[in-house]
Amino acid sequence: MNPIINCLKNALPISSVTIASAIAAQTTQTNSNLASPVNVDEQALVEQARGITQQYGGALKKTLKATIMTSGPAAAIRTCSVHAPGISEQTAQLTGWQIHRTSNKIRNPNNKPNIWETQVLQQFADKAERGAPIENLEHHQVIMENGKPVFRYMKAIKVQNLCLNCHGTHVSGPVKSAIKNLFPLDNATGYREGDLRGAFTLKLPLK
Ligand code: HEC
Repeated sequence: MNPIINCLKNALPISSVTIASAIAAQTTQTNSNLASPVNVDEQALVEQARGITQQYGGALKKTLKATIMTSGPAAAIRTCSVHAPGISEQTAQLTGWQIHRTSNKIRNPNNKPNIWETQVLQQFADKAERGAPIENLEHHQVIMENGKPVFRYMKAIKVQNLCLNCHGTHVSGPVKSAIKNLFPLDNATGYREGDLRGAFTLKLPLK
């Protein structure tokens, strides 16, 4: 079977409960102390964003682990498109939420942060440096994009032992060359366990 299809098949399906409540959360509610340009139930949207992030992160990690175990990390980069953009597409189609990953040190140029994301990443880095636990770092905000209100949510990603295969300080030769082949401008190595790697970044257009 086509390895990409296989990866997607293994990704956790987004449950219909998540979708139904994502839609429900979009229902406009009045909130008197809003700094946002539109009236939305931000807390409900944060809950949605957390759920989507958890499912997406879980799906990625599951696929990643399985492929490394069966074929090794170099093959995981070449064939399974470890962090399949397809999982993002699937999530968007099912839920209306756009989800990606970004970082201040990127491997895939498609993951480059925009100005707003760069500011939030910097805020996470400052907080982490001052000793805040990375797993607790998140930020949400309603902002205007191209004249339209969107709900934005970001959650920090911490480096775990598994990640060092491809993002660590001593990446093996075959992995290095597989990365170089696909991502010649790679800037995402040199990390240690517990470092801040980047963030999940989510967007929901508000009507
Ligand atoms: C098998 C190798 C491999 C492993 C293991 C791996 N990654 Fe990656 N990672 C990649 C590749 C290849 C990309 C670029 C492709 C893409 O966009 O997914 C990437 C991209 C990323 C990005 C997006 C930003 C960027 O640099 O483009 C983040 C964040 C990230 N990885 C975090 C992690 C974390 C956290 C872990 C451990 C849980 C991990 N990775 C494990 C290969 C790997």
